[in-house]
Amino acid sequence: MEPAREGKFEEFYGEGLVLHSDMPTLIEQIRERGLPQHVAVIMDGNGRWAKKRDLPRTAGHQAGAQAAERLIRFAGGQLGLRHLTLYAFSTENWARPAGEVDFLMELLDRFISEKIAEFESEGVRVVVSGDLARLPAALQQHVRNAIERTAENSTLILNVALNYGSRQEIVRACRMIAEHVASGKIDPAKIDEHTISSSLYTSEIPDPDLIIRTSGEMRLSNFLLWQAAYTELYFSDTLWPDFGPDELLRAITQYQDRNRRFGAVEEME
Ligand code: IPE
Ligand code: IPE
Ligand code: MG
Repeated sequence: MEPAREGKFEEFYGEGLVLHSDMPTLIEQIRERGLPQHVAVIMDGNGRWAKKRDLPRTAGHQAGAQAAERLIRFAGGQLGLRHLTLYAFSTENWARPAGEVDFLMELLDRFISEKIAEFESEGVRVVVSGDLARLPAALQQHVRNAIERTAENSTLILNVALNYGSRQEIVRACRMIAEHVASGKIDPAKIDEHTISSSLYTSEIPDPDLIIRTSGEMRLSNFLLWQAAYTELYFSDTLWPDFGPDELLRAITQYQDRNRRFGAVEEME
């Protein structure tokens, strides 16, 4: 298939973050080339976005939540992506000042509570990766409620990485497997990659094809370390609150232009 590179597409490639009137055509071209099955996003740069505007960090998180909402709507709607993971709070983020952590917990609670009706009617299925036990009781309750209420949906699987840390996830998987070994359910000689994959929070979701990180940082910050073995990485200088559908399309186009070899030599499509 011809790469989608002509005419309006060039304009779209410009710096602007404004929705382009020819977006439907671009989306169609991108869809024809084959969407990644799973896109995962490290939503970074809220604090710097606020600082640039002389606002408190919390205002950056508020704007970041709006960017997340916009992306979920676009990914599940016009674009038709199947799996989207959003890194919302890491196991390391507890190290932030208590006021910021409290604000983030309340923001997440409000986000989930307010958007649940839309998720339900738009076919979004909410799943969570992370240790819910340490979260405030009300947030735990609202997250569980969202998971239950959207369990039958399948248009977009929205995986919220919440109190998520990849090392914690792997430690948890090791414990689960060790318990199965101790009780005789698993023969240690039979432990393979699938045993581990299926013991992670993401057991029902394909590995991410594409991880996007905003704000210019080039690291994974304890995100999907096992799952990202062959993931394509896209780093953007855009601060998360400014990240919009157009840049998601740019990231996916770059992904589509890459040659994923998985260690082999021939071109793989
Ligand atoms: C990402 O933005 C949001 C979370 C980690 C919860 P940051 O708050 O990390 O923003 P910067 O990196 O300080 O700009
Ligand atoms: C990663 O961002 C975590 C989330 C986006 C939730 P951080 O801002 O916490 O990462 P570091 O500290 O810069 O590595
Ligand atoms: Mg950050």
